[in-house]
Amino acid sequence: MSRPYAPACDRNREPILTIIRDLLPATGKVLELGSGSGQHAAYFSAALPLLEWLPSDLPECLPGIEAWRDDAGENCLEPIAIDLLSRELELPIVDAIVCINTVHIMAWQGTVNLFAAARDALTDGGIIYLYGPYRYRDQPLAESNVRFDEWLKGRDPESGIREFEQVSVLAEKNGFELTADLPMPANNRSLCFMRRN
Ligand SMILES: C[S@@+](CC[C@H](N)C(=O)[O-])C[C@H]1O[C@@H](n2cnc3c(N)ncnc32)[C@H](O)[C@@H]1O
Repeated sequence: MSRPYAPACDRNREPILTIIRDLLPATGKVLELGSGSGQHAAYFSAALPLLEWLPSDLPECLPGIEAWRDDAGENCLEPIAIDLLSRELELPIVDAIVCINTVHIMAWQGTVNLFAAARDALTDGGIIYLYGPYRYRDQPLAESNVRFDEWLKGRDPESGIREFEQVSVLAEKNGFELTADLPMPANNRSLCFMRRN
């Protein structure tokens, strides 16, 4: 099959890699949620060979992710189906979770499920890394993100750019502490939460 290709992955993979090199544990297993085309899984697994990288997405995305494994490190595992909107969501036990440009694509319930399931999937010190656009209560949304949010809601009224403060409260309720909130190119953010017992 021809491989799916998302141009944005070529633009954001290096800035994201710079950040996750510092935030993720040096060794262990990373679960990627909403892996999409599979380009990030291929690139990050090759760049971080001491980590096991487990890509996942909705079932229809798995063949595309699989097709990118030719470019991936041997540490890139076979992708698995995970629908964050499924009831009774359970995630595999891992050391870190990475979720790029997916929180704003799904209904808010998907993020609620993500944090609830991550509480069981991660042990003390485990990391959730989120990348994407966020809105902040005390700041106007950048014009490009206003337009992006309108576009998202036009496709799915339940999707949309999430509020940083709402995500932080959800994280705290589930036993996660915010450890990083960093600006990224094109009005995106890197958010990192750590599991605390
Ligand atoms: C904008 S794409 C981002 C893909 C990839 N992370 C990237 O940055 O290129 C959003 C991804 O979220 C996935 N997605 C949408 N709804 C989902 C759900 N309910 N559970 C898990 N993944 C979902 C889509 O299949 C898609 O791959």
